[in-house]
Amino acid sequence: MTGETLAESTIEIDSYLDGSALDSMADDVREGLSREPKELPPKYFYDERGSELFDRITELPEYYPTRCERAILNRRAPVIVDLAEATELVELGSGSASKTRALLFAMAGSGTLERYLPMDVSESVVERSAEELAEIYPGLQVHGVVGDFEQHMDLVPVGRRPLVAFLGGTIGNFYPDARASFLADVRALLGSDGRFLVGTDLVKDIPTVEAAYNDSAGVTAEFNRNVLHAINRELDADFDPEAFEHVAFFDREQSWIEMRLRALGEQRVSIPGAELELTLADGEEIRTEISTKFTQERLAGELSRAGMQIEAFFTDPDSLFAVTLAAPA
Ligand code: SAH
Ligand code: TRP
Repeated sequence: MTGETLAESTIEIDSYLDGSALDSMADDVREGLSREPKELPPKYFYDERGSELFDRITELPEYYPTRCERAILNRRAPVIVDLAEATELVELGSGSASKTRALLFAMAGSGTLERYLPMDVSESVVERSAEELAEIYPGLQVHGVVGDFEQHMDLVPVGRRPLVAFLGGTIGNFYPDARASFLADVRALLGSDGRFLVGTDLVKDIPTVEAAYNDSAGVTAEFNRNVLHAINRELDADFDPEAFEHVAFFDREQSWIEMRLRALGEQRVSIPGAELELTLADGEEIRTEISTKFTQERLAGELSRAGMQIEAFFTDPDSLFAVTLAAPA
């Protein structure tokens, strides 16, 4: 008999979101809503329902980033994998990992694929993608990390020469200071010869970018309001999500899309889990998320300040989105 037995895949998952996660949500919510203007941290969008709504966003006709990034990765994965010479793929904010398959496929094709390490705050997406990918790639070791990439990146058990991917334009969701410290943590993860692969949305005409965050089916609005559902559930709050209107606009000065929830009529809200009572005036807004749009120059500057340099920069034919491979400088 000929042929070889396919190796068994393995799955291991570490979780760093224990009981303290609720305490930090209470602190974040209390702090953000006590500030003027009011603000909520975006990582709380992504509970199970939020992760599903985000996946629906990625399929909307107006939401070009996912389609562009997928096309770039499908076409360029072989050259990215050649340049990176990696045996393992670490993915930060991995979500459903639907575009990651192109990278894993190219690594498997070049015979170098050993390990995939997805990291996400959403436990359900880490478990689901781990199972799916272990099944698709026999012999793959999957080591999932359920954690916050702003707090637990040093706990990712990286091996030698990792390819660290951060897709979806999620890097644009940080404020500049938080992005600088995130990039410093990525640089530390790379060691002397790892590579960083980052997806960024690019500066473009305003109607195109604004439509991507104001879809006509209202999925983005529902996603935005999901942060209120999550706070109601986790902190026993009594927000009426339907009494908030989704607002998204491009701020030219900051070069970012800003997402807000605007109170329709005065809202009295009680949040026992955060020991907070508040009143929002009619029309008052809560900022929920920013999504920064980059130029290649700006990205190169930020990478360089974190000790990295661009090795390859790929865009779609219309230059709507970019995938950048960066190496230690
Ligand atoms: N990479 C996927 C998903 C992007 S959406 C794609 O390109 O389609 C952003 C992802 O980052 C979500 O899965 C969300 O759960 C995760 N995320 C958001 N904030 C996070 C944080 N602080 N730490 C870890 N993961 C986070
Ligand atoms: N990383 C995605 C982006 O910046 C996240 C996102 C898409 C998002 N649509 C959203 C966040 C709507 C909040 C609200 O494009």
